[in-house]
Amino acid sequence: MFGKRNTAALAVRPAEPAPAPEPAPKAAAPQPKLAVAAPPKAAPDTDNRLNDIKVGVFNALLDAVDLKELVKLPPDTVREELTDIISEIVNIKKFVLSAAEQQQLVGDICNDILGLGPLEPLLARDDIADIMVNGSNKVYIETGGRIILTDVKFRDNAQLMNICQRIVSAIGRRVDEASPICDARLADGSRVNVIVPPLAIDGAMLTIRKFKKDKLTLEKLVEFGSCAPVLAEVLKIIGNCRLNVLISGGTGSGKTTLLNCLTRYIDPGERVITCEDAAELQLQQPHVVRLETRPPNLEGVGAITMRDLVRNCLRMRPERIIVGEVRGPEAFDLLQAMNTGHDGSMGTVHANNPREALSRLENMIAMGGFQLPSRAVREQIAGAINLIVQTQRLRDGSRRITHVTEIVGTEGDVVTLQDLFTFEVSGEDRNGRLIGKFRYTGLRPKFYEQARHFGKERELATALEAAERELR
Ligand SMILES: Nc1ncnc2c1ncn2[C@@H]1O[C@H](COP(=O)(O)OP(=O)(O)OP(=O)(O)O)[C@@H](O)[C@H]1O
Ligand SMILES: [Mg+2]
Repeated sequence: MFGKRNTAALAVRPAEPAPAPEPAPKAAAPQPKLAVAAPPKAAPDTDNRLNDIKVGVFNALLDAVDLKELVKLPPDTVREELTDIISEIVNIKKFVLSAAEQQQLVGDICNDILGLGPLEPLLARDDIADIMVNGSNKVYIETGGRIILTDVKFRDNAQLMNICQRIVSAIGRRVDEASPICDARLADGSRVNVIVPPLAIDGAMLTIRKFKKDKLTLEKLVEFGSCAPVLAEVLKIIGNCRLNVLISGGTGSGKTTLLNCLTRYIDPGERVITCEDAAELQLQQPHVVRLETRPPNLEGVGAITMRDLVRNCLRMRPERIIVGEVRGPEAFDLLQAMNTGHDGSMGTVHANNPREALSRLENMIAMGGFQLPSRAVREQIAGAINLIVQTQRLRDGSRRITHVTEIVGTEGDVVTLQDLFTFEVSGEDRNGRLIGKFRYTGLRPKFYEQARHFGKERELATALEAAERELR
């Protein structure tokens, strides 16, 4: 059925190192989420024996079957076919395998051919936030806020490179010496970065931010202790009342997640335009336009930057503009938009505290070549942004909203800030978990007037009264 299938050839093929599997033509397309549980840790000898058998079976399979044709079939059919062919190969070559080992072998080979090989079991797990592949022998994951080394390994560098190639070919790219860096996305929306030698010294490095199908909500954040219940109430009002909000935080601290949570409170009637490098936000409103930047093609041309998108979306009659991550000169355009009637715009920025978020914005504007005196930039920032919400991944791995800070105005050429809510760490328990408390400073928010304008004054007053009781 698949051209080459000729089991007679199986018996005579000498053993040799496994060539990497053919890249699937529908690169990275169907993401077969095999619910393969992590195999129990076998003794090293068993590991080696199984690996040798896998290499032998894989070679025989390459001889017997035209994989390019095979992968055009629906994944379930491919799996059935492969199960039959592999058991034929195992019989002919007289490999000794238990039923469980054979099942594992079939699973591993299907993962190799249809998906992302040894990464599939990790991709199938919903409790993993990031997968970090450091060369073929080390795969780390982030789960529960902690980074852990797994026992997942690739057969060799060629297999890892092949998988990287398969991922990036989905967006029409290649990674090799000439073009060693690439951002891509898996079919399920997970964000991927690939960097390969010679830039990556110890082999290909693959970083995957796993896409969470069931996005976190403010209720979940409260459940996790990332946010106090009354603070969540205030954040809902902030999301609804068309305030301009900057979410600031370190890498992986939960900025995009919080932005997504806040967007749930946007009125369904508003026209929202989102601009992202890799679409991660999932807005629930009916009237949303989603835009995504584009990297340059193989010849290095055709890039569409975040600035291009933000500028273009100003011509699309947006009511709110949401920028996934502000990292360059688009900061200027976003501030302009916030200052000129696109209230309720939001974005995230990499910074360790609210004050630093402001200086990051200033730097982005300065580096964009805008010849503006810093006082003018600061006035523009103070006029544009209402609030900075700071997220942080603390040293015990927990993620918290550590500041809700208002921009009050400018004094001389300094932007004045006032904290409304903070998170204060007071100690550590016996398991190394940080103990802390959310605090309300008791200040009356400047956005009170805006809440009144949107009919949320009562709700805000009730939330602040509760905050006064619970968080002072
Ligand atoms: N409060 C939270 N509690 C537990 N997990 C969280 C929390 N916030 C975010 N996460 C998880 O942490 C991971 C990183 O979150 P997110 O993508 O929002 O971070 P980020 O700050 O935007 O990262 P980056 O800097 O890479 O863009 C995701 O898997 C997300 O589901
Ligand atoms: Mg993010």
